[in-house]
Amino acid sequence: MKASPIGVFDSGLGGLTVAKAILDLLPNESIIYFGDTLHLPYGEKSAKHIRDYSEAIVSYLLSQQVKLIVIACNTASAVSAGYLREKYHSQIEIRGVIRPLLSRVATKNYQQVGLIGTQTTIDSNIYPTILAEYNTHMQMQCLATPLLVPIIEEGFAESQIIDEVLKQYLSNLKNIDALLLACTHYPLIKKSIEKYYNGQLDVLDNAAFMAEDVKSYLEKQNLLSTKKSLTDKFLVSDYTNTFAKSASMFMGKTINVEERNIFASV
Ligand code: DGL
Repeated sequence: MKASPIGVFDSGLGGLTVAKAILDLLPNESIIYFGDTLHLPYGEKSAKHIRDYSEAIVSYLLSQQVKLIVIACNTASAVSAGYLREKYHSQIEIRGVIRPLLSRVATKNYQQVGLIGTQTTIDSNIYPTILAEYNTHMQMQCLATPLLVPIIEEGFAESQIIDEVLKQYLSNLKNIDALLLACTHYPLIKKSIEKYYNGQLDVLDNAAFMAEDVKSYLEKQNLLSTKKSLTDKFLVSDYTNTFAKSASMFMGKTINVEERNIFASV
């Protein structure tokens, strides 16, 4: 069981930012990553469909004997984590990216935090709801920034285009002490965001907090692997060369991506 892989999934390849953080922190662990490139982007889909897709992925990962499932997607964490946990609680631990970030943010001395994410994540209102569980004083301003994902995927993460779009979007957030990046893709534009704020503001993303959460869960359950014995697998529901290229962009190195059709019955 200790040597079993960790299942990690996302709507596509952005969740590799989270997978990378997990593997960097826990080099003895192995992962099975599933990117649902067939149904990408989740950020504009209804909660119902995202739940159906997520459920099919969880069921596939269970068939691969994973020891833990990480939802490395903000949108899926927002609309399907509760449902999945309820349904699978007797079989597997399922962790999303929202609580690891917010439980840390809540301990800080911020008065107002800003948050950017996909339309579905923002519409779910889940971030302010969970923040209020941890801290009743901290205020949150949420903003959907749907243009950012396609710009990043097109390879413009470091360009004047992103600077211009950020200027337009971020000017809507007033008097914030920190900005939370509630989308798998945004760590790739963290530097541009920090530049926009002249380094005067904390810019926080989910990846490192998620990796720490995984570590602490595995430690508590005595499930930490002591030696890497399996090869990491990177699977997608629809393979194209463009996806294979963006996998390397998100992972920071070249990886081998394979297609798996798991949606026959969805
Ligand atoms: N992975 C999604 C998220 O973190 C962004 C991409 C998408 O919309 O599917 O919200």
